[in-house]
Amino acid sequence: MAGIIIVGTQWGDEGKGKATDQLGERVDFVVRYSGGNNAGHTVVVGGETYALHLLPSGILNPNCVPVIGNGVVIDLGVLCAEIDGLAARGVRADQVLISANAHVITPYHRVIDRVTERFLGKRKIGTTGRGVGPAYADKVNRMGIRIQDLFDESILRQKIAAALEQKNALLVKVYNRPAITVDEVYDELMTYAPRIQPMMADVATVLNDALDAGRTVLFEGAQAHHLDVDFGTYPYVTSSSPIAAGACTGSGVGPTRIDRIIGIAKAYTTRVGEGPFPGELLDDTGEALRRAGAEYGTTTGRPRRCGWFDALVVRQAARVNALTDVFLTKLDVLTGWDKVPVVVAYDVNGVRLDAMPMTQTELHHATPVYEYMDGWTEDISSARTFADLPANTQAYVKRLEDLVGVRISGIGVGPGREQTVMVHDLL
Ligand code: GDP
Ligand code: IMO
Ligand code: MG
Repeated sequence: MAGIIIVGTQWGDEGKGKATDQLGERVDFVVRYSGGNNAGHTVVVGGETYALHLLPSGILNPNCVPVIGNGVVIDLGVLCAEIDGLAARGVRADQVLISANAHVITPYHRVIDRVTERFLGKRKIGTTGRGVGPAYADKVNRMGIRIQDLFDESILRQKIAAALEQKNALLVKVYNRPAITVDEVYDELMTYAPRIQPMMADVATVLNDALDAGRTVLFEGAQAHHLDVDFGTYPYVTSSSPIAAGACTGSGVGPTRIDRIIGIAKAYTTRVGEGPFPGELLDDTGEALRRAGAEYGTTTGRPRRCGWFDALVVRQAARVNALTDVFLTKLDVLTGWDKVPVVVAYDVNGVRLDAMPMTQTELHHATPVYEYMDGWTEDISSARTFADLPANTQAYVKRLEDLVGVRISGIGVGPGREQTVMVHDLL
């Protein structure tokens, strides 16, 4: 096994961090390829909880090289704080490699993210407010700052000045905010640049050399299929390509080097921020799921919107991402329900749809059609093999496998690294 991608199949927070950490023990490199510190990946090892935002979850395995690819946008202060936080807890984090082509989140990106949301009012996206969207916008608009720019003072100052000419016009004239100076931005970046310099690398070359040498590279997705700027519920999406294809553009490794694509799917559905969510439960059942699954954001602390498993959502992700395997997480959270509903179709204006509709208008009018599976009451958190699971739990997993059309190779039965049922070996 050489190249393996882990990708979210719903709206994020499926448990990608835990799955990555679990495989991290047996891989040589773990690569973040998209997003920034809008991500929050929680990993629990030996009773210790780690919340990672920019560093790949492989960092918790000492033999694994953590890599940040060109597709990521980096808030240098957040990255340094994360490295220091881990070091204080005895985790070595100085081995990180950062692509010279990755873009930097600057103070003006953070301000613009927040004021734009305020300006949008009811039409807001519900972003994480970390400056991620504005940083990607500048990248595509060819006015971004890259990691390599930090080490050429004249170029850096010119690029900041050019960006600020436009940003300050927007901030002052449209949003009525104070202007930002070149020095302010330059000084913030320079606070961290010397620490970043030794980590800067030609990541595409490093990873291709590693694959040539028979090493294993794991690509850790952030966000998820339905937050993808092309395939998600646009405009309620993030501004990057979290789908599996993004692992290639976000790291410099070609598609033929990928051997396995593992979709992470929660045993129910959650979403943070705004946007359509046909299966959302706005009643006590939704609240009960939120409580049982501790569904509050790792990054912003916002309560996550909850619903039952939506087979249309995950099946769509399975196709577009060409999943070879599904890792089903948080199955333990569903213990104790008499019936466990699953969304198997949508009703759109009286018409039954068996797949997600093509247009946003239809999705906004979709209501869920449920199938009701028998629940279970047994505690499954110490199950380690499929046979350890109660018959009704097995039937639930098998039904999801049929509906999604991809084999379920791993099942999460608790947050701990060891709380996993492996059905098929993933490496
Ligand atoms: P990510 O963004 O996809 O990495 O997911 P998050 O870390 O934001 O959210 C997943 C949450 O569920 C974290 O708090 C994990 O510790 C926790 N978690 C992951 N897998 C399981 C599982 O199988 N069971 C339970 N109960 N919790 C899990
Ligand atoms: P992980 O990797 C869940 C959501 C935000 C918002 C939208 C746009 O932990 O699964 P942004 O700040 O990216 O411009 O916000 O995307 N979002 C996430 N939701 N998990 C994430 O990451 C997310 N990253 C962004 O809530 O709706
Ligand atoms: Mg998360």
